Amino acid sequence: MGSLPVYKDASLYSARLPSSPIGEKSRRRIFTGGLPISEKEALKRMTVSSSANGYPLDPAVGSSGCRITRTYTAEYSHHPVMLAEVLDLLDPIPSGVFLDATLGGAGHSKAFLEHRDDIHLVGIDQDPQAQIAASETLSSFHGRFDLVHERFDHIDRILDQLKIDKLSGALFDLGVSSHQLDTPSRGFSFRTNGPLDMRMDTTSEPKAEDIVNSASLSELSRILREHGDERFHKKIARAIIAARPLSTTAELSEVVIDAIPAASKKFPGHPARRTFQAIRIAVNKEIEILESAIKQTIHRLAKEGRCVIISYHSGEDRIVKKTLRAAAGLSTTVPKHLPQPKEQAIIRLLARGGQTPSQNEISQNPRSKSARLRSFEKMRED
Ligand SMILES: C[S@@+](CC[C@H](N)C(=O)[O-])C[C@H]1O[C@@H](n2cnc3c(N)ncnc32)[C@H](O)[C@@H]1O
Repeated sequence: MGSLPVYKDASLYSARLPSSPIGEKSRRRIFTGGLPISEKEALKRMTVSSSANGYPLDPAVGSSGCRITRTYTAEYSHHPVMLAEVLDLLDPIPSGVFLDATLGGAGHSKAFLEHRDDIHLVGIDQDPQAQIAASETLSSFHGRFDLVHERFDHIDRILDQLKIDKLSGALFDLGVSSHQLDTPSRGFSFRTNGPLDMRMDTTSEPKAEDIVNSASLSELSRILREHGDERFHKKIARAIIAARPLSTTAELSEVVIDAIPAASKKFPGHPARRTFQAIRIAVNKEIEILESAIKQTIHRLAKEGRCVIISYHSGEDRIVKKTLRAAAGLSTTVPKHLPQPKEQAIIRLLARGGQTPSQNEISQNPRSKSARLRSFEKMRED
């Protein structure tokens, strides 16, 4: 098992490198208080030019925006989705440690730290750029947070290394951030040209181009069908294989547009959006790791601790729903009209179905449109 060097220093710009990292070598890092100045400056200096469209850009939202040209600066920008609902649901949690498993730019976490001064934050993100942005956002909360560059299915390992036993609360705001989508060099968007990358963790493998250029026909077809609900998965998979090698988002987008029947191009939404979503999910193993991360969180929550999970596509939400219903003792096999077995329940669901954003939020932030929020409370220690 790999372990993480820990940076223990509450002052923002002077995190010290430990003289001997704990455990074996790892590229993952935990920062307490902030990041070294060199990393923050590197992000700020990163400026790229691109042709991009107006919102919504999110493949999950799907309707197309009007095309504009803008110069893009790599300032981190992301509106926390369903913020009022998240704060409301987390309001009653006991004092202690709150885990933000998808920290991003720390929009939700900052608001929660402001709201509750008896909370210490552990913020996980696998994207090094998100960590840098979050460190800046949280700079006024000296000593109240730990930032961890890691994938969220390693929650047990991270908490063990931080010597944290129980959590008071947790948040998963799944999927990609606006910053990732809007940065052409990250290769997430079919609307801007960039390398076929799509990695949230820029230190990991594979990139999108590895999958696009080497997956078999059946594997590509399965990815498009399962992760993108793409009707034309076979046609697109065949076209991708015929067009190999592909190295840019524009090339992939063009191949998809050419592959699908003309009539279906009239449907709302960009024709390549499902393909991009599917490949992104495969690159980042978004589906495989979710159930394990939720189970680790349930186990780590203290009695009366709460967790909020926001998902953005049906595949993700299916896993969230199934995992939570099982932990709540709600059998998925017993028909709804029959008494549901409750004796195994270790959590209680805080709402019957998934909550969705208000019309007002959707009009302010169209990318929130596909959000579905599920929440629960731990009923007893396990
Ligand atoms: C929707 S954004 C979160 C935005 C955040 N709530 C805010 O208010 O700024 C999702 C973030 O989770 C990260 N992420 C997604 N899957 C992850 C995983 N498996 N492990 C760690 N981070 C992940 C992404 O890199 C991205 O920064």
